Amino acid sequence: MCRLAAAFAVLSAACLLCSAELNTRPVIGVLAQENLPRDRFARGSSYIAASYVKFLEGGGARVVPIRINRTEEEYTRIFSSINGLLLPGGDVDIEKSLFSRAAKIFYDLALKANDAGDFFPIWGTCQGFQQLTVFTANKNLLTLTNTKAVALPLTLTTAAHSSRLFRNFPKDVLQSLSEENITSNFHSWSLSMQNYSRTSKLRRFYKVLSTNNDGKKEFISTMEAVRYPFYAVQWHPEKSPYEWADKPGLVHTTSAITASFYTARFFVSEAMKSGHRFPSSSEEERALIYNFSPVFAGTDAIFTQTYYFD
Ligand SMILES: *[C@@H]1O[C@H](CO)[C@@H](O)[C@H](O)[C@H]1NC(C)=O
Ligand SMILES: *[C@@H]1O[C@H](CO)[C@@H](O)[C@H](O)[C@H]1NC(C)=O
Ligand SMILES: *[C@@H]1O[C@H](CO)[C@@H](O)[C@H](O)[C@H]1NC(C)=O
Repeated sequence: MCRLAAAFAVLSAACLLCSAELNTRPVIGVLAQENLPRDRFARGSSYIAASYVKFLEGGGARVVPIRINRTEEEYTRIFSSINGLLLPGGDVDIEKSLFSRAAKIFYDLALKANDAGDFFPIWGTCQGFQQLTVFTANKNLLTLTNTKAVALPLTLTTAAHSSRLFRNFPKDVLQSLSEENITSNFHSWSLSMQNYSRTSKLRRFYKVLSTNNDGKKEFISTMEAVRYPFYAVQWHPEKSPYEWADKPGLVHTTSAITASFYTARFFVSEAMKSGHRFPSSSEEERALIYNFSPVFAGTDAIFTQTYYFD
């Protein structure tokens, strides 16, 4: 009898899980940012590099571009319609830009939603990583590093192997990530281990999953939040399969492409745990990136294709 009751309890626990059914049609928002000053292909006022869109699409999601300079009310509406947010790399002021303003609104909404049991994941790449550290620390603690165009192997921490982000990666993929120079670094600023360790707000919020070193400073290259589905990489998993400028730091080997795919797949699988949806399918249709066409900037451009917005 007892055993039956226990079996029943296990079954109903399993059903609680299955009642939080996975969303197999996830839609992820990608935040636009102010156009680069010397981008001769630019039109309108903001852009999204197409590689971020393809990265998420390749992982099994659809993408909604989130424009800058919108009202808080509109962002709140978008938030309740999408299943996750990606903050891309770039080159704007992470304390004063319209990108930063919009990112902060979503960050606060995501904290509140997750606290209330409404699962909402955020992914930050490069500038997105840096932006998240500024929000969490309520301060810019970044430091200059010599990491402008270099592919590095991740130095995984012991926490990496049990992390949500990496624990389901195939062993050989994790091995390539940690042994081969396949993670693209294109940043001047980094969060040093020193400033992370000194800052309790960061230490309590994020677990460090990997570090790198520019020869002088050890900086964080991958982290995940302890209590929130927030993930941040200082490297660029979207570049290997989708950016083709013939530049140092860009790697197109099989292991680099495979690692990119597992990274995208992980974040999309997080988004599948979100039940947010658009109020109607016509609103969803109007919001999707398919309403826009990217511009091809030539094989030598830093972004092979870019979406521009008014
Ligand atoms: C958007 O940009 C316009 C023109 O630059 C400005 O007047 C307006 O206040 C901005 N709106 C927001 C929400 O920042
Ligand atoms: C730590 O952060 C401060 C900004 O508060 C910055 O000036 C300094 O260079 C950083 N130091 C290191 C080692 O990262
Ligand atoms: C490979 O990574 C190491 C750091 O582990 C670095 O010293 C080296 O410069 C990198 N090689 C290339 C070709 O980027």
